[in-house]
Amino acid sequence: MTLGGSKNAALPVIISSLLTAGKCSYGRVPALRDVSTTLRLLSRLGVTIEKDTMGGGCLELTADRVSQVEAPYDLVKTMRASFLVLGPLLARFGEARVSTPGGCAIGSRPVNIHLQGLERMGARICQDHGYIDARAGELRGAIIPLDFPSVGATENLMMAATLARGETIIQNAAREPEIVELAGVLNKMGGKVNGAGGDVIQIEGVGELHGMSHEMSLDRIETGTFMVGAALTGGSVMIEGAWAEDLEAFIVKLRQAGVRVEEGSDGVRVTGNGRTCSTDIATLPYPGFPTDLQAQMMVLMAVSDGTSVITENIFENRFMHAQELNRMGARIALDGNRATVQGVAELSGAPVMATDLRASMSLVLAGLVARGVTEVSRVYHLDRGYENIEGKLAGLGADIRRVSCDD
Ligand code: EPZ
Repeated sequence: MTLGGSKNAALPVIISSLLTAGKCSYGRVPALRDVSTTLRLLSRLGVTIEKDTMGGGCLELTADRVSQVEAPYDLVKTMRASFLVLGPLLARFGEARVSTPGGCAIGSRPVNIHLQGLERMGARICQDHGYIDARAGELRGAIIPLDFPSVGATENLMMAATLARGETIIQNAAREPEIVELAGVLNKMGGKVNGAGGDVIQIEGVGELHGMSHEMSLDRIETGTFMVGAALTGGSVMIEGAWAEDLEAFIVKLRQAGVRVEEGSDGVRVTGNGRTCSTDIATLPYPGFPTDLQAQMMVLMAVSDGTSVITENIFENRFMHAQELNRMGARIALDGNRATVQGVAELSGAPVMATDLRASMSLVLAGLVARGVTEVSRVYHLDRGYENIEGKLAGLGADIRRVSCDD
């Protein structure tokens, strides 16, 4: 099977089009709610958007007539990654007014690290009425030690630094593959970004960036999700084009649970080997175990032999799916950021409610192996990050259908 373009790469990459007046072309852009929200925001700022000019997931963006620098609350509240327009707008236009994203189901998610970094680059930042008001005659390069290797802060600061005067050093930077992809795109635009993927990123500012074309990488979280699906259902799935390197820590855990994972140049094959066994998991910044696969892995642990402990170290409230899984007969006890999962023989189908993107996917996976029917409500969470999920699962033999969209 073939999966879609990466959501968490596509969002910052298409936002980076704000850094240039040149035309930027993108391929394999996933048809997701979060991408549509980003395009609505860019269009509101004055970016020209040409879609599907070449069919299927192609997009052309030209930010040569940006007419305003304000990202309104009504858009930012629906998708926090909108906050990533702050760095590019400030760097290119010297000012930006961006709504603060506020908290979300999985945590308080402040943006202090983004703001501290921009202030070190000379931005004057004030906060009022729920908005960040940022101004800078011209951003200047700086040494920016991050308190935490935040993905969003690294992306925002990396984009801002490409047009700043002089050199910027981001220390304790996030190392996710999405950071490497964004750095690659910025360099295609004429940027000078070095060291992405390591914990120190060095950026030499340039006067101007130009347009370019880029094809999004495959979504590694969607890939991991289908790998758990194969393990859970005892099936065998070949994910064409998948990069195992991007999921190293996750694949180690799948193998510890007894799942067969074969890596090849053309992709990754996952084969469920009957009953799996428990293994402990702790989410960490990359290259550690990805928090975006924690919920999916919890389902596998819920029907594995033995007891596992899952520790969530990135977000303070990312166990909302546990109670819903317990309603399906799982035995999960929560204690702060630790979940103790005692494996059960099987789950039973039930009506359950999605609370966030990855939690909703874990409930769908649980429904695939539960006895009887599972009804997952609030599936709009799913559409934020999974393109045509029921079609892809049905294509692999799942008995799944969307009965109604509840918004
Ligand atoms: C990105 O979110 C992803 N989103 C998330 O995926 C992912 O879970 C997360 O990185 C971690 O891997 C996108 O790429 C669009 P962070 P981001 O800044 O950038 C704290 C999904 O399911 N922090 O690395 O928001 C923060 O509260 C989504 O696809 C501060 O304290 O994550 C959190 O606890 C969910 N201050 C931790 O750092 C800051 O200024 C990690 O956040 C910034 C972050």
